[in-house]
Amino acid sequence: MNSNVRPETMERITTKALADAFIEEQVAEVRAQVGDKKVLLALSGGVDSSVVAALLIKAIGKQLVCVHVNHGLMRKDESENVIKVFGEELDANLIYVDATDRFLDLLAGVSEPEKKRKIIGAEFINVFADEARKLEGVEYLAQGTIYPDILESIKAAEGKKAVKSHHNVGGLPDDLKFSLVEPIKLLFKDEVRVVGEALGLPHAMVYRQPFPGPGLGVRCLGAITRDRLHALREADAILREEFDKCGLAEKVWQYFIAVPDIKSVGVKDESRYEGWPAIIRAVNTKDAMTATIEEIPYAILHKITDRITHEVDGINRVLLDLTPKPIGTIEWE
Ligand code: XMP
Repeated sequence: MNSNVRPETMERITTKALADAFIEEQVAEVRAQVGDKKVLLALSGGVDSSVVAALLIKAIGKQLVCVHVNHGLMRKDESENVIKVFGEELDANLIYVDATDRFLDLLAGVSEPEKKRKIIGAEFINVFADEARKLEGVEYLAQGTIYPDILESIKAAEGKKAVKSHHNVGGLPDDLKFSLVEPIKLLFKDEVRVVGEALGLPHAMVYRQPFPGPGLGVRCLGAITRDRLHALREADAILREEFDKCGLAEKVWQYFIAVPDIKSVGVKDESRYEGWPAIIRAVNTKDAMTATIEEIPYAILHKITDRITHEVDGINRVLLDLTPKPIGTIEWE
């Protein structure tokens, strides 16, 4: 698949049969492209990189080297899940790098959102490049580029101004020159999911809500501290659990907690209890350019508030963000 233009004749992949045909075609193409060489992949656990990993495991097995970098800004149990699915169930050649300290040390005291994004993006490349340099015989880099990414970069090249610097894996340093393997680059997101299910990936992974490259780093607002990051992760896990239970997880496009760097006065066990607020954000959108607010039933909001304030150390209030995009962006930073 060398062209970056989706042919008008390419049928939309909507069924398992079409996905199976696509997989078969890509398996043959990847085998022909890489021969017996090794292929490297940054596996975040997101839908796109996971589908590429599963596809390449099918095509070339252990010739694929997956590197999962835990930047310390993952959601609860996310890295563990990547290890379980790819390291154990799919028996992938998986390198797990816990780089939490590297990232959190660099981010200490940094409160400006764009600076935080730049640090996270650059350090991600540093950690990934460090791992790549340790390996021998790698000639290819696989990427989970999808068709909207290609359309976005065409827009960027036309000089449209971005609101924030969204980035995942940027360019690698000059000493690491790889040829690219991009098996899903002509697919739209819905097609990637159909292919993911046909490859046997877990439903929760294939239908995972979008999660930004900088992770919880842009939800732990202002200068990140380990205690507030921990509180955010725990509160977010409760929100996800409750959304799962009541069916909202299937319905809402993206939902998460943000925790700002402010404390308010509360009372617990008859004593003064200062804590951070947990802000619930739950939005629906088609393309993330605009977004509307999901109306969450009060009974569910009460349950979530009750659980978060009782179960998460350091959180003493729960707030609901009612702002559509525009004017608010989906993420707070
Ligand atoms: P905003 O906050 O710009 O977010 O309204 C729109 C969508 O993009 C996600 N997002 C990112 N995704 N890398 C990503 O891959 C990033 O740096 C990034 N920043 C925001 C956000 O979660 C939402 O789905």
